[in-house]
Amino acid sequence: MDAIAQHYPEHIQTLRQRSDAILADHQLTGVVIDAGRAAGIFLDDMEYPFKVNPHFKHWVPLTDNPHCMLIIRAGAKPILLYFRPVDFWHKVAPLPTDAWVDQVELVEFARLEQLLELMPADKANFAYIGAHADHAAKLGLAQVNPKPLLDAYHFSRSIKTQYEIECMREANRIAVLGHKAARDAFMAGGSEFEIQQAYLSATAHGENDVPYGNIVALNQNSAILHYTKLERQAPQQRLSFLIDAGAQVNGYASDITRSYAFEQGNLYADLVATMDQHQQQILTQIKPGVRYTDLHLEMHKRVAQMLNQFELAQGDEQTLIDLGITKAFYPHGLGHPIGLQVHDVAGFLQDANGTELAPPAGMTLRCTRVLEVGMVITIEPGLYVIDSLLNDLSDEAKALLNPQRIDELRPYGGVRIEDDVVVLADGIDNLTRGFDLA
Ligand code: GLY
Ligand code: MN
Ligand code: MN
Repeated sequence: MDAIAQHYPEHIQTLRQRSDAILADHQLTGVVIDAGRAAGIFLDDMEYPFKVNPHFKHWVPLTDNPHCMLIIRAGAKPILLYFRPVDFWHKVAPLPTDAWVDQVELVEFARLEQLLELMPADKANFAYIGAHADHAAKLGLAQVNPKPLLDAYHFSRSIKTQYEIECMREANRIAVLGHKAARDAFMAGGSEFEIQQAYLSATAHGENDVPYGNIVALNQNSAILHYTKLERQAPQQRLSFLIDAGAQVNGYASDITRSYAFEQGNLYADLVATMDQHQQQILTQIKPGVRYTDLHLEMHKRVAQMLNQFELAQGDEQTLIDLGITKAFYPHGLGHPIGLQVHDVAGFLQDANGTELAPPAGMTLRCTRVLEVGMVITIEPGLYVIDSLLNDLSDEAKALLNPQRIDELRPYGGVRIEDDVVVLADGIDNLTRGFDLA
């Protein structure tokens, strides 16, 4: 049995214990979790790709089964209501037979109208978790996504079980296959579109299977943070390549970024190597008790050092930070929690009662947590030439920039290095670098 399957029973036991305690705290008998359904396209007879409710895939490794439901009752085995319609237009999902099914009570149904009679008799004391309040109303479930309940579930989700970590390790292994194929396609002269195809093929993922739209950017496009429009033509000149792409296993994501210089011995190649060193030095500082925000602030100091080292700007670290210069070159956060969602929930939650801590004023960051054993986070520092941000700087700040050097870097776009790591008692388990991705 593989590591994922082997750890699933204890995952379910942990979820049941956590859920029993949360339900008791909220005076509920249970929850009904709706897998969801695909949204229809306006004035069309087609649908957007189905994306399952993350609460649903937390319990069962099903990501492509709309209309299924889970009934989670305190103290009882979860009931999985499994939809198998008679339908000659679409493929009907087969009944699952893998070992995980032993951990749930599987109830098959063929018509959506049956759901009403499949609801628990004492449903007045159940809450509904899902995207479709109209559905909850039809099923007679009056409490829809109560925020205090969701906060408690989300906070508990921050600490991953070994099953979840193994799913993400596998999602990293698969994504690394794609990253290597993409790097080879870049070196061979592929266009962004061709590199994307190489990635998807190597990971056996379709475009709707990847956990987020791949960022496959050549040259100056790599300075566009969420660049997802792929050029079909290869550029005349190959300078740089940034790829931010992941994979999914049982609905758990990986999220990896690498940057490559086409030729060695130039400014960009040195910048990539230096960023890689800083990223790895930040990784050595991860341990329980460290606040994520402090790692982000430290990265700003390191970016200030890099700006001086590469003569992109000059000034002492604090001045470059205070004048917003480091933020103009490094405008995003150091990273985020990852799991069932790429940007996983509870990045700001400080306790199960919903207390949130926002990042300090002016800081862009998705995580202000104090790190604990079992959290999985990304670490993804970057440095880019983004003219709109540089143009917005004050005259005082602009006076510290080196325009010639910035001009030299601009055609290369930017650099980012991103790994997914598990917080351990004495450091980290790097899920990404375990697979020989430089
Ligand atoms: N790929 C999205 C992110 O890195 O946050
Ligand atoms: Mn990413
Ligand atoms: Mn990320």
